[in-house]
Amino acid sequence: MKFHDPRVLSLLNASAVTAGYIILFFFSSWILYPASLEGFAMYGMLFVTGGLLFAGTYFFFRYTVDKFIYSRIRLIYKSIYSIKTQKTDRKGIRSNRNILDNVEQEVTDWGEEKQKEIERLKQLEEYRKDFIGNVSHELKTPLFNVQGYVSTLLEGGLDDPSINKEYLRRTEVSVERLIKIVEDLGEIAQLESGQMYLNKVRFDIVAVTHEVVEMLEMKAHEKEIQVLINQPDKTMWVHADRDKIRQVLTNIIDNSIRYGLDQNGRTKISFFDMDENILVEVTDNGIGIDQDDLPRVFERFYRTPRGREVSGKGKGLGLAIVKHIIEAHQQTINVRSTVGVGTTFGFTLRKA
Ligand SMILES: Nc1ncnc2c1ncn2[C@@H]1O[C@H](COP(=O)(O)OP(=O)(O)O)[C@@H](O)[C@H]1O
Ligand SMILES: [Mg+2]
Repeated sequence: MKFHDPRVLSLLNASAVTAGYIILFFFSSWILYPASLEGFAMYGMLFVTGGLLFAGTYFFFRYTVDKFIYSRIRLIYKSIYSIKTQKTDRKGIRSNRNILDNVEQEVTDWGEEKQKEIERLKQLEEYRKDFIGNVSHELKTPLFNVQGYVSTLLEGGLDDPSINKEYLRRTEVSVERLIKIVEDLGEIAQLESGQMYLNKVRFDIVAVTHEVVEMLEMKAHEKEIQVLINQPDKTMWVHADRDKIRQVLTNIIDNSIRYGLDQNGRTKISFFDMDENILVEVTDNGIGIDQDDLPRVFERFYRTPRGREVSGKGKGLGLAIVKHIIEAHQQTINVRSTVGVGTTFGFTLRKA
């Protein structure tokens, strides 16, 4: 039995009052008018007045309790509701007949929602800690290098022609790397704050791919990797931010070269017409990505163990940037890969 239910509460109250009345009735009729009412008349009167009293008390309590509870619960309900609707616009305030049940349901739902939010925030907090750890680690290596070279030069190396120029050159490389990290971080921060301004224009994605491939030609040549464009003479018009998509292609093709085979490496870029969109796929026959690592390659600073082995230079920011750009275009990017066979990155762009 639910004692907090206004109906049960009113029933109990009405019973108590009626029982009191019956006792009082017998008591008073016995003391005051010992012989005035007897038998059927007395019980008839008791039955009628007792019944009326019971019903009256019941409805009176019911009404006042309801009014009292509702007036308070409604406030709570309203404030829960208004807090919730700040984020999502749902249902609308329900009729107040089942307000108690509703409040119970709303509070349970709300609690669950909050619990999930707490979990998510905890995860973000973990992620943030990881991120800061990673940033300082990334910055340390080139900084220590610079410090090392500069001290050696100051401690006499400057006059030693066999190392002075070389150490200065290496210092420059490290400083360049620092600048690149800081630039990428700035870009990531900007992307993550959701302030990406897209300058969407109509352009030929195949032509942009040619430009990117040309730019990476030297690098591909050094690793003896062949970069091919499927149907290179075709024109495919898309509607997107040209510079940003150029960066997407650069990052993905650069990876296919960097993590490609040392011999007989091959990168192929293909385009598929898919109704509303164009699908761009970059396929390589490189080292591949383990299934466990696949969902993580788009995270900032994430590098696969094999990736680290093959190339010491990466920072793990390229694909994070790529993903942000594609998502800002409200398009999708995915990756599939088999270790030892190769990797395919595919993303879509709006046709123009
Ligand atoms: N084509 C690819 N083949 C194999 N591994 C890849 C490929 N592209 C990316 N990866 C893995 O994903 C990681 C993240 O890539 P990215 O964000 O571009 O960072 P970076 O190249 O600077 O390490 C790389 O470190 C590498 O481990
Ligand atoms: Mg990369």
